[in-house]
Amino acid sequence: MEINVNGGARHCDAPATSMAAYVLRNDLGLAGVRLGCGEGHCGACTVLVDGRPATTCDMPLSALEGRQVTTPEGVGAGGQLHPVQAALLEHQAGQCGFCLSGILMTAVALVDGERPPSEQEVRAALDRHLCRCGSQHRILQAVLAAVR
Ligand code: FES
Repeated sequence: MEINVNGGARHCDAPATSMAAYVLRNDLGLAGVRLGCGEGHCGACTVLVDGRPATTCDMPLSALEGRQVTTPEGVGAGGQLHPVQAALLEHQAGQCGFCLSGILMTAVALVDGERPPSEQEVRAALDRHLCRCGSQHRILQAVLAAVR
């Protein structure tokens, strides 16, 4: 199967029923896709599918066929940090950083959306991501700064 990832076609030998997160990370070497809970609860495996955040641990590889997939490796064009990446760095938002890849993708979708999201919408979107270090406040402040 071929899937379109970060603007290029990639061939996958894995069975169509394989966990998409596993194939992206282990077969295609896109280590920005993190595997946490494996049950669709923590958000670590979030990528953009046709511009929308989606968890990939609860999705078969076949669901990505014909879609435009963006992983953390595809964020930030031409060596420039995306505003969300810059804000996360500026606010020193991460602690261990495991959750940040998925949060980055959700925040990129918010910032790159058709209209600026409200604080309530940002909070609701980030609520789908778990951070065990307790860095939620800094992450929220960073994402709010990026959407303004
Ligand atoms: Fe996919 Fe937790 S690893 S939601």
